[in-house]
Amino acid sequence: MNDDWICGRLGEDEPWALGAVNPPVFENSLFTFETAGDLAEAIKDEDERYVYWRGTNPTVDLAQRKLAALERAERAKCFGSGMGAISATVSSLVSGGDHVLVLGAIYGPTTQFLRYLEKFGVTHTHVGDPAGLDSAIRANTRVLYFESPSYMSYRVVDIPAVTAWASGNGLVSVMDNTWSTPLFQKPLTMGVDLVIHSLSKYVGGHSDLVGGVVAGSAELIRPIALTEYQLYGAAMSPHDAAKVIKGLRTLPVRMAAHQERGLAVAAFLDRHEAVRAVHHPGLASHPDHELARRQMAGFSSVFGLELDTDERQVVAAFLDGLKVFRIGVSWGGFESLVAAPALTTEESVRVTMGIPVGLVRLSVGLEPADTLVEDLALALEGVVRLA
Ligand SMILES: Cc1ncc(COP(=O)(O)O)c(C=O)c1O
Repeated sequence: MNDDWICGRLGEDEPWALGAVNPPVFENSLFTFETAGDLAEAIKDEDERYVYWRGTNPTVDLAQRKLAALERAERAKCFGSGMGAISATVSSLVSGGDHVLVLGAIYGPTTQFLRYLEKFGVTHTHVGDPAGLDSAIRANTRVLYFESPSYMSYRVVDIPAVTAWASGNGLVSVMDNTWSTPLFQKPLTMGVDLVIHSLSKYVGGHSDLVGGVVAGSAELIRPIALTEYQLYGAAMSPHDAAKVIKGLRTLPVRMAAHQERGLAVAAFLDRHEAVRAVHHPGLASHPDHELARRQMAGFSSVFGLELDTDERQVVAAFLDGLKVFRIGVSWGGFESLVAAPALTTEESVRVTMGIPVGLVRLSVGLEPADTLVEDLALALEGVVRLA
């Protein structure tokens, strides 16, 4: 099925009541039944039937059906945040004594969650490169977890190769696909078992939503929906599901604009004397560009820019010099954002992760590309002066 159709219309073939173009928001914490027997029947199937909002809700269900279709998954489950989806998914796959393999750089709180699992006897190992997987796997390894492009470094993982390795070794592979959105990359078609998104980024797109989703086979999603979803309680609210549905309606056109503007800004920076490197997999200069083109249908607009400096105050002055880019965490919204790990990450963590002092993350929003380039050019003049 066509992605544009899925985003705009899937699950909405019949007009809503009164001819409304948008679905109703089912603001119901519970649903009632004709008989006690009907309720007893519904509870047996609580991940599919509407019983109580912490388990299921029709508005959330519609968002889930669209996201599952976009990821070519049998089922999807939406959560109250990306971390809700990540923690529930990993928890569902491991028991005390198990081991998780992590490939490449991943979102910081995901690593923190894996560290948290140590108190339940679940251990993990970080491997920088696929070449290290064979020596890191153990008899008790259950899960291979990764992002592609990887967090902050924007290196691209050869998804078919690593998932073939994972399934050959009996592991469940889990991939965070937030960077690409379900439009630009479909990991399940390349062998990934479970794909996760923070919906707080491009899918929401308006910086007014925190949400997450996991998608995959019905066999893997059902236990998550019945157990971790219900017990951890990170349920998505119907209001947030309505925002997901709204975000999806315009996702294809927004992503086309993000891609175009992101690449224009990255190309400008790639030629600038105050810039050591630009880490954007859509640039021909990126070491994984060919691989990225093979497995991705497009490029989002979050990337790393390495300033030609090792001084924190130069990085801070660069951020302060920007007038259109706003300083803040998160990414994928309509507004351009900038953040610098050297100014916000604990020093020992920055060094362990191999993040240079001069690394800055840009999230290119929907402002005109020439306005963004002008803003960056002025702030970079300051970097050249201070060098
Ligand atoms: C790559 C990635 N995955 C997951 C998350 C977590 O998502 P949320 O903030 O919705 O919990 C983030 C948040 O920044 C992220 O950048």
